[in-house]
Amino acid sequence: MSAHDPIRALQPRFAAALAKAFGDEYKSTDPLLQWSDRADLQANCALGLAKKLSSKPRDVAEKLIAALDASDIVEKLEIAGPGFINVTVKASWLGETLSSRLADARVGVAPAAKPETVVIDYSSPNVAKEMHVGHLRSTVIGDCLARLLEWQGHKVHRQNHVGDWGTPFGMLIEHLLDLGETAAIEELGVGELNNFYKAARQKFDASEAFQQRARQRVVALQAGDKETLRLWKILVDESAAYFATVYAKLDVTLKPEHIAGESFYNPLLQAVVDDLALKGISTINDGATCVFADGFKNKEGDPLPLIVRKGDGGFGYPATDLAAIRYRSETLGATRILYVVGAPQAQHFAMVFAVAKMAGWVKDGTRPQHVAFGSVLGADRQMYRTRTGESVRLVDLVDASYDKALSLVKEKSTHIPEAEQESIAKAVGNAAIKYSDLSNDRVKDYVFDLDRMVQAIGNTGPYQLYAHARTRSILRKAKDELGLDAPTAGSAVVITHAAEKRLALQLSQFEAAVDAVASSLEPHKLCTYLYDLSTRFSEFYDQCPVLKSEGAERASRLALVSATADTLKAGLSLLGIQAPDRM
Ligand code: ARG
Repeated sequence: MSAHDPIRALQPRFAAALAKAFGDEYKSTDPLLQWSDRADLQANCALGLAKKLSSKPRDVAEKLIAALDASDIVEKLEIAGPGFINVTVKASWLGETLSSRLADARVGVAPAAKPETVVIDYSSPNVAKEMHVGHLRSTVIGDCLARLLEWQGHKVHRQNHVGDWGTPFGMLIEHLLDLGETAAIEELGVGELNNFYKAARQKFDASEAFQQRARQRVVALQAGDKETLRLWKILVDESAAYFATVYAKLDVTLKPEHIAGESFYNPLLQAVVDDLALKGISTINDGATCVFADGFKNKEGDPLPLIVRKGDGGFGYPATDLAAIRYRSETLGATRILYVVGAPQAQHFAMVFAVAKMAGWVKDGTRPQHVAFGSVLGADRQMYRTRTGESVRLVDLVDASYDKALSLVKEKSTHIPEAEQESIAKAVGNAAIKYSDLSNDRVKDYVFDLDRMVQAIGNTGPYQLYAHARTRSILRKAKDELGLDAPTAGSAVVITHAAEKRLALQLSQFEAAVDAVASSLEPHKLCTYLYDLSTRFSEFYDQCPVLKSEGAERASRLALVSATADTLKAGLSLLGIQAPDRM
């Protein structure tokens, strides 16, 4: 499929022109094409080239224009200022390319040229512990990246690296026994994970005897004692079932089969230690197996080790992540391994990646990446907490957003039957939470303000949903009142009005926006794109009558509405947001 985006379509034309005008060695000079308010596009390469060629920028620009063969795409080329080339795109080219992508399920986005195997480690809550607002970010960002990369045609392995192993399980299992299995299952089943964990912790802190039992239980667990493992599995399964209900509420694609928790790597830990020793990478310090990777220092400036095996023989979080990265690279065959985890773990991942490279488990060309994110803050700009100072349960946020959305929908959409109101409220509630998370620069902190997030004004999820519903309602009216079917592939798009052109140009950039998220792993770029698209659409709709126009003009405008509807829907779905057809 040929490019729908004038920048992409013009790249090879510029390359040819550069070669023709200045010689083959200039073929791969970046023409520096970018969107501009002055024309449609601007090519800014003449200034840099002039230095290399010891010539005047305007002369270079002139030569380049003379060599450029792009009259099918370009209407007008003008030299501006010191030597910028202003490019006006042909309306007919835009209309034709847009027409060819109508009714295309991929809305003109070509599948990835080089499909990769990608692992995305995300959500990753801890067993018998509540999912909190930090897991919200990991879950929402990770799910967006999983959907988007998969849609591009990559093979995506979702990996929920659940914390299901380690010393806390001693006290958790003993507490389970104290409660009795049935009562414990009931408590965990309704999602009272916080209470369960806290009660176990309290006993552990208060009673010497309980501590003793808990320690023995850890030993039994690590030794693979059957009964202990059975009890452990109850905790794991009940928690997983609870996590699944939260994922379903939040409408994320994580399923139980994506769980590969810490315990999954237990059988692989010894081989990690052995391989590091064999390759002469690890050293023994005070009985602990350590790797000193270049460049890592502690606060005192001394070399900082990654502790692979503790002095007491136990394996910890770093060992598990080493086994995991090795498995992901060697067994799953991933060439891109993403970890959607909060910024405070940056050093941990940097060390794990460095050691995995030293050991040769991660080959050159494979990209392990820490997709770090900032914190969620309250109105006071401190960590977001409940009034009593506890961390906020993820599920409570989802419920609160749904409740607010439902009351807004009931107020605004009185014409819609109740069951549909509820499904719209679910979409609006989730859109509010997800969009506010994704539209913020990932690495920055953001303030959680539910009242603002659910409003359909400004750059919010609900605003985008209304914009989409409006496009659908126009298409519905065209059908119901005028008997006009939705435009099909190849319906003519004739662009005459400036607002039509701006909308068409914005539509043409969808693929570039998707690619930008895939490479930068920054979902806010897609949010910004969709917000601009909704804005261009509003301008178009204000200035260009659709249903009240006639004939070919009406058909063409309906095609623009339809392309906008499909692009908004596709873009929102990549963010993990369902767009209802009416609201
Ligand atoms: N369970 C950890 C937490 O809740 C996150 C795990 C992230 N993934 C990883 N491979 N270490 O903080």
